Amino acid sequence: MTEPSFLTTARAAYDTIADAYVKAFEDEWDRVPIDRAMMTAFADLVRADGGGEVLDVGSGPGETTAYLHSQGLDVRGLDLSPAMLAHARRSHPELRFDEGTMTELKVPDGSLAGISAVYCVIHIPDEELPALFAEFRRALRPGGHLLLIFMNLDEHILRTEAFGLTFQLNYYMRTPGRMTEYLEAAGFDVHAQATRKTQPGENLPRAMLLARNGTLVTQ
Ligand SMILES: C[S@@+](CC[C@H](N)C(=O)[O-])C[C@H]1O[C@@H](n2cnc3c(N)ncnc32)[C@H](O)[C@@H]1O
Repeated sequence: MTEPSFLTTARAAYDTIADAYVKAFEDEWDRVPIDRAMMTAFADLVRADGGGEVLDVGSGPGETTAYLHSQGLDVRGLDLSPAMLAHARRSHPELRFDEGTMTELKVPDGSLAGISAVYCVIHIPDEELPALFAEFRRALRPGGHLLLIFMNLDEHILRTEAFGLTFQLNYYMRTPGRMTEYLEAAGFDVHAQATRKTQPGENLPRAMLLARNGTLVTQ
């Protein structure tokens, strides 16, 4: 079966920009306390439910995976781009990073305690989101946790130049309200939301959602 073109395009773009991207964002996670706080909350929730296997999809250079690992999670990364994976494996040789797409997780049904998707669902077109979130639900155990961090605006941008390089990279951006509608339609219970303004060096506001696989019945 041929690969959907949005995957081919995103892989080619990240393979092109990987070196420059990693250099530009190498200390990013030291600079974003609100994002880190939501990742910490995600890790606390997974651990409070007994822990288990966590997948950091779109793991890029592996900094998000390493942060979640530092919070006590049994986590591995998954990324589409071999060039980004090479950086992650070099920087974090103690962690596991696999090549693949978040749209087709090669894990058994109900096997994951958590999925984190940090600044990567922005590369999935709207029409593919229902299938993506259905795949996340299939892979998560009942009550399993999902963390989404993304740019907070309602716009599609095709970026063709950065770092003096040319490529094609689509950004499908949604407000947290619109993302929540997709998640709830897929059967997730969205229970926490954070938004923040841009910080120095950023040009777009950010949003973060925490969700559970299925609605929890409270007694
Ligand atoms: C903006 S980077 C974010 C990296 C990391 N999560 C972070 O926040 O530092 C987006 C990453 O998502 C990856 N990606 C894009 N589409 C993907 C897909 N369908 N499956 C897995 N990874 C994907 C890209 O290769 C890239 O490494």
